[in-house]
Amino acid sequence: MVRTAVLVSGGGSNLQAIIDARIFGEVKNCELAAVISSNPDAYALQRAEFAGIPAYIIDRKIFANRASFSEAVHKKLEDLDIELAVLAGFMYILDPPLIRAYRNRVINIHPALIPSFSGPGCYGIHVHEAALEYGVKVTGATAHFCVSEADAGPIILQKAVEVREDDTPLSLQRRVMEEAEWKILPAAVSLYCEGRLEIDGKIVRIKGARSDVERGRSDSEPQ
Ligand code: GRF
Repeated sequence: MVRTAVLVSGGGSNLQAIIDARIFGEVKNCELAAVISSNPDAYALQRAEFAGIPAYIIDRKIFANRASFSEAVHKKLEDLDIELAVLAGFMYILDPPLIRAYRNRVINIHPALIPSFSGPGCYGIHVHEAALEYGVKVTGATAHFCVSEADAGPIILQKAVEVREDDTPLSLQRRVMEEAEWKILPAAVSLYCEGRLEIDGKIVRIKGARSDVERGRSDSEPQ
């Protein structure tokens, strides 16, 4: 089993997607050993408690700077003997020492089709505001490995979502979460835990791609 920690900052809907997928057997060989929250008031902590997952708070507000916060997260991961860290609505960049130590062992979910609408300052609802402002007809989500540059790591899975003419940033965020994030993040975690990811520089290949999500097919495509 791969000892996995899920890092959160807010509502935890992506955490919940992993918890639920695991219950339905869609996330294999993964031990959810910890939830680590940067926010003591995150509803994600309630979700962890309901699921019986040990939760830890590393409150970003009590750290003088990003480096000391990142160091505290790094130490917690090491203390808990974590192999895989999953950033699920986690709102902070982790510093190079942690990323180096956890090379290709930190997975993030970004609510756009990287490289679109990604990089510094492009997170949460701002991503969907930018997509609507640009007028794209398709957006989606990306599960990727983290490197020290924001949203620039090797892409594991992506899933497209249509943009509707009457969309608001909130309605678009909701659809991207429901139709993309909550599907590809659990799938990416399972692929890692099953040892089915081959990483060749920036390219990630999936050994024995089976499900539609793994093949990058959208729901509407003919079976
Ligand atoms: C989501 O839009 C996710 O893409 C982004 O943070 C938002 C909240 O995620 N990373 P969650 O509900 O806390 O998982």
